[in-house]
Amino acid sequence: MNKIIKKIKNLQNQITYHNYLYFCLDKPIISDIKYDYLLNKLKNLEKKINYKKFINSPTYLIGSSIFKKSKFINHLTPMLSLENIFNKKKFLNFYKKMLSFSNKKKIRFCCEFKFDGVAVNLIYINGVLKQASTRGDGKKGEDVTKNVFFIKSIPLVLHGKNFPKIMEIRGELFILKKDFLSLNKQNNIINHSKFSNARNLASGLLRRKNLEFELKKKLLFICHGFELFNYFKNIDSYYLNLLKIKNWGFNISTQILLCSSKNKILNFFKKIKNLRSTLKFEIDGIVIKVDSLKLRKKIGLISRSPRWAIAYKFPNEVQETKLLKVKFQVGRTGVITPVGYFKSVNISGIKIKKASIYNNKELKKLDLCIGDRIFICRAGDVIPKILKKKKYDTNTILNKKVLFPKKCPSCLSVLKSCSKENNFYCTNSFFCLPQIQKKIIHFFSKNAFKIKGLSPHIINQLIKKNNFRSPIDFFKLNFTTLKSLNNVGQKTANNILNSFKKFKYITLEKFIFSFGIKGIGKSVSYNLASSYRSLKNLLKIQKKNILNIPGIGELIYQNLINFLSNSNNLNIIDQLINNFNIKVVSKKNQSLTIKKSIFYQKNILITGQLKNFSRIEMKEKLENLGGIVKNYISKNIDLVILGKNPGKKFIYAINFKKKILTEDKVLKIFSKI
Ligand code: IVH
Repeated sequence: MNKIIKKIKNLQNQITYHNYLYFCLDKPIISDIKYDYLLNKLKNLEKKINYKKFINSPTYLIGSSIFKKSKFINHLTPMLSLENIFNKKKFLNFYKKMLSFSNKKKIRFCCEFKFDGVAVNLIYINGVLKQASTRGDGKKGEDVTKNVFFIKSIPLVLHGKNFPKIMEIRGELFILKKDFLSLNKQNNIINHSKFSNARNLASGLLRRKNLEFELKKKLLFICHGFELFNYFKNIDSYYLNLLKIKNWGFNISTQILLCSSKNKILNFFKKIKNLRSTLKFEIDGIVIKVDSLKLRKKIGLISRSPRWAIAYKFPNEVQETKLLKVKFQVGRTGVITPVGYFKSVNISGIKIKKASIYNNKELKKLDLCIGDRIFICRAGDVIPKILKKKKYDTNTILNKKVLFPKKCPSCLSVLKSCSKENNFYCTNSFFCLPQIQKKIIHFFSKNAFKIKGLSPHIINQLIKKNNFRSPIDFFKLNFTTLKSLNNVGQKTANNILNSFKKFKYITLEKFIFSFGIKGIGKSVSYNLASSYRSLKNLLKIQKKNILNIPGIGELIYQNLINFLSNSNNLNIIDQLINNFNIKVVSKKNQSLTIKKSIFYQKNILITGQLKNFSRIEMKEKLENLGGIVKNYISKNIDLVILGKNPGKKFIYAINFKKKILTEDKVLKIFSKI
């Protein structure tokens, strides 16, 4: 039996994927005959074991209009929003008002989590999902039907029988806190940008047009509303209808309170507030709803919000503590950032003991003295922030104010101010130790001159003990120096030296990025490289051309000119190219070796564990040879590199007859280049 189920699941996955390619992308990759063959095979197997649980099977979906193309979808009934309240008094007002509308002494309320996610409307016809859309302007929302296809908690076909002919199911899409943290770490996942909170990330994932369904699977849906069009006329209760909906295959809030007592609601609010930090997903309050659907109709709406429901939101958690010190940190580009250190506090389950004070303007605004009582919160419930100090603190009279220093706290050179940014800078970039450390770590980082094994720990030791000052000192590294460092054995030393030896090519984009010029991050580097195409052109930079490049204004132009007119910098570039034979290649003008490589301009997937490289190293190597390494299965994959215990990507590679190379074969190819 298990074997059959495995086969069925495998076939379901395959067909689902082909449906997606066919219906959503109009790019089928197998013939109709092959598709029918797979589908029949699946139908027969499902029939054989009469396995009703396969309700989400593609065999149920054939002929559905799920894949219709349009940008916006009209909601059948308007999607409203909720009015927010933040205190007990407002809640009691709401409670009283509801009773007065009903003319009764007691009415039922249903209370649930207020999920912090993205609202979605799902339209089901005869139990089959037809359309999914975002809230939009409340009347029509963005069509995300295709995008929800891989979200497990959105059933494509409902469980059970006797559904309303037409219905709207409303709810919230969100991702787990742990997935937010790990996806945000891989900040290149979505448009190379980080998301400040889980809601934004969920919204980003939902809207992604690409095939990255592995990512979309991280989205979870919870139902908190519906429009059943008089279906359950006799069941005059939101809660009881919700239980029906649960049986059709939806998740509903795990904590629901059905009661008629204001005190019970207030206790529920307290309980959920305490529970909040232990939950696996973000909530920002509770929602209190009148339970009777008939009474809801009577109570009605106020403009775009129902009068019969309210969101009772949690206050932003604030803790009082004592300011211990303010350190002025020197950044890579010399910018000085004040950081406040305080007696640690616990906010939403996380221990916090420091917070950035951003710049001089913020420092002045806070008006701090060491020893002050201060209030801390987590902005957007994530980033630690000093809100303000306690007023009339006698400490202010006894102690001196924390002021921005006039000199660099590290090298003591006089700071330069940049009033536009409210910042102070240390301009002594070649002799100021923290700047040197951060610049070199950046230079040899992942998206720049990545050298295997050259960790920040090793870099810092070489700077402190061996007086290394420029990237060139590192290119001259020898075995004895490396071996003399703490925690560097023979293997690490050899790895580092080999990595330097093999480092021959770098794209112009990475080359520009590696120097860490102020304001020139990954995307500006990319834009500069795309416009200038070669290092030679870049070195002859002219103002009138550069200002047309996206993301580059007067300030960045000036930073670039300052960098290029500094003889130390030009000397480093000259030595890299002429003494260490580094070739700076533009993506459109790759060297012949690269062009000849079988990886050149190929979309590559890596699956399974590699013996000889880490994933990142393999990716780097392939990219150095012009390959484009993808993280997810997509229709454009050209070849798949196979490690030990390969995953799903291998199955797709076989099914779609992609070129497959074993790691050993790849190693051989590398060794010939
Ligand atoms: S009921 C007409 N219940 O909050 C009332 N909404 O500010 C509509 N939300 O757009 C929603 N958790 O997406 C309801 N348990 C819950 C909710 C909830 C989160 C969202 C919803 C809505 C927004 C309103």
